[in-house]
Amino acid sequence: MKKFEIAVIPGDGIGREVVPSALNVLNTLSEVHGGLQFETTQFDWSCEYYLEHGVMMPEDGMKTLSNFEGIFLGAVGNPKLVPDHISLWGLLVKIRREFEQVINIRPAKLMKGVKSPLANPKDFDLIVVRENSEGEYSEIGGRIHRGEDQLAVQNAIFTRKGTERAMRYAFELAKTRRAHVTSATKSNGIFHSMPFWDDVFNDVKQDYPNIDTASFHIDALAAFLVDRPHIFDVIVASNLFGDILTDLGAAIMGSIGIAPASNINLNGKYPSMFEPVHGSAPDIVGKGIANPIGQIWTAKMMLDHFGENELGNKLLEIVEQVTEAGIVTSDIGGKATTSELTEEICNRIKQL
Ligand code: NAI
Ligand code: MG
Repeated sequence: MKKFEIAVIPGDGIGREVVPSALNVLNTLSEVHGGLQFETTQFDWSCEYYLEHGVMMPEDGMKTLSNFEGIFLGAVGNPKLVPDHISLWGLLVKIRREFEQVINIRPAKLMKGVKSPLANPKDFDLIVVRENSEGEYSEIGGRIHRGEDQLAVQNAIFTRKGTERAMRYAFELAKTRRAHVTSATKSNGIFHSMPFWDDVFNDVKQDYPNIDTASFHIDALAAFLVDRPHIFDVIVASNLFGDILTDLGAAIMGSIGIAPASNINLNGKYPSMFEPVHGSAPDIVGKGIANPIGQIWTAKMMLDHFGENELGNKLLEIVEQVTEAGIVTSDIGGKATTSELTEEICNRIKQL
């Protein structure tokens, strides 16, 4: 019996609706599979917790989390009660940074039965590997003077170590897919860091003679994601470029409610964290119509991370059977509730 110990943080808003749904699916999988068990521990860290305690998590929160094999998070944020920079930096960003989750991965694919906003999309299935620890998102820089003389300096940090590890991760991932890696660069406009990025990419690719590569400037790449997303397999990008590309990826799939993500710790010192792309969706909370697919697909990424790829792929196949059958929530054009969609997925798992 393989057992995985998972810390569950449903968080705020629809996080509390879609996390139970995805746990339901995971438990059904473990019932069917037999040899697999998910031992979950729930933490109520959220904006409500903040109102009560003045912090987003207890002082020893990170220590507590460090004992788990994975963190399964819903969404954080309730802007009416707590400013976003407090809730996000006090929980989500804190975990990403302190647990050295240096890679962020987000897949995007044309799902059966889900209408993409693209007019004639060919079957696309890509994954963006985003450097998650440095690059353009650095605290180095500053502001000086006021009025007409005011000035801001923002430094982007690209280390050989950080750049190379994101690229190697992308190449290793490509080995398990269609053996193609695209580098997102901008060495025609950004004078130092992007030529450096290109140099590292050219070095790293020598170690992967069986992987085909391409390199596009980020502006052209963004356009290609709209008019020819099917040409991509794995895309490796800096923190900022990856951030933008992955929102675009979620958009061309047809709803932010179906897009999954994971934050990967590579040195094995801390757990990785799995969370959907969407937020707490205050506008639909309590209505029972939140799309659980983003959270369920995120559970699939967690299974992949634990080496249970076969089971993860099965799960995604079932999700697509259900979307193809049109049993979907209103954000993707259906009438099903969160629980009806979840139940349909669980029933199909039981038939495996
Ligand atoms: P959001 O992703 O929560 O919602 C954007 C729009 O998409 C809304 O119209 C919402 O109803 C819809 N939507 C999102 N997820 C859906 C789902 N599963 N099913 C159906 N419709 C869905 O982004 P928003 O409104 O900008 O942020 C709300 C709160 O969430 C803020 O406090 C923000 O800081 C936080 N947030 C947290 C994130 C996280 O925890 N990773 C990510 C993004 C936002
Ligand atoms: Mg973003």
